[in-house]
Amino acid sequence: LSSNDQQVISAYKWLEKLYHYLLRYAKDGKEGHEYLVTRGLTEETMDVFKLGFAPNEKEFTASFLEKKGFQLQELIKVGILTNHGNEQITDRFAGRVIFPIRNHIGVTVGFGARAISGQEPKYLNSSESDLFQKSKLLYNFDQAKKHIRKQNEVILFEGYMDVISAYQAGVKNSVATMGTSLTKSQAQLLKRYVDTVIISYDADQAGIEATYRAATLLKEAGCIVKVAELKQGLDPDTYIQTYGGNAFLRNVIQASVTFMTFYMRFLKKDFQLHSEADQLQYVQTVLKELAKLESSIEREYYLKTLEDEFDLSMDSLKRELTGYIKKNP
Ligand code: UTP
Ligand code: MN
Ligand code: MN
Ligand code: MN
Ligand code: MN
Repeated sequence: LSSNDQQVISAYKWLEKLYHYLLRYAKDGKEGHEYLVTRGLTEETMDVFKLGFAPNEKEFTASFLEKKGFQLQELIKVGILTNHGNEQITDRFAGRVIFPIRNHIGVTVGFGARAISGQEPKYLNSSESDLFQKSKLLYNFDQAKKHIRKQNEVILFEGYMDVISAYQAGVKNSVATMGTSLTKSQAQLLKRYVDTVIISYDADQAGIEATYRAATLLKEAGCIVKVAELKQGLDPDTYIQTYGGNAFLRNVIQASVTFMTFYMRFLKKDFQLHSEADQLQYVQTVLKELAKLESSIEREYYLKTLEDEFDLSMDSLKRELTGYIKKNP
């Protein structure tokens, strides 16, 4: 680590403690605490994730860090402070709830900061740097690791709050990407710890498309992919807060579908299935994907669904599929 990186890590360490203390025990953090209570979080959960509040005073953090002897210029670069192009240095996260983001060995390397009274953007994150790379980090990976290993399964969420609500409901083997698409390096990292990844993204258009992209990368990395589906408009956090953790486990996680089932539904949206040409193209696209499955029992299972749905003969479906299966010597 460069000495700059060490300084930045040290600043995060101080601020994480300070912001968490304020949120839990001080008048200056009361707004943040109240906000998290309305989101259904307990004090214990706030402690586990070291959630905090950056006071709504423009120079609170800057003057705190200056007194500790930090170089403020470095902290502007990583996005803790800002100077808006003028002389005055102010707190970039002021008035926001703080989600410390730790790397895989548990060192805090960035913050996510959520608005609590409608400011835009909803979340501000630390700036990208070689210490804080959203494309390589997974939120909560350090704490989830042992649960992921033990259960040989990980749940992949979109956001901080999904991970935190799931944790509070007893689901501890979860991580989240932070507003960006899952990357190849994140997929490979997960594969080192598990076989099965359950994708549980938001049930909106963006979430469904992101599910398809993440699934593709995870399959390439060698993972078994399942998809947990929610009613349109919900996200996992909202589901858990509305229906409870047991319902989430039973009706969402344990009811998650295979990648193929998700894919067939996903694909259907692109086709006007009352046209014959589209039906044929749909079936052929599905067959191409089926050809990649290793298990002939699995292939047969989905062939049956095609046979029923499109009134095609099993014979011709099988013949067509064979054409797509690459013969291994
Ligand atoms: P979502 O918009 O799904 O947020 O973005 P959320 O987690 O459900 O937020 P709540 O429940 O309203 O608090 C998913 C993730 O994308 C990142 C954050 O990491 C968020 O958790 N994000 C989202 C940003 O970085 N910036 C934004 O403005 C919005
Ligand atoms: Mn650096
Ligand atoms: Mn979303
Ligand atoms: Mn969401
Ligand atoms: Mn949400």
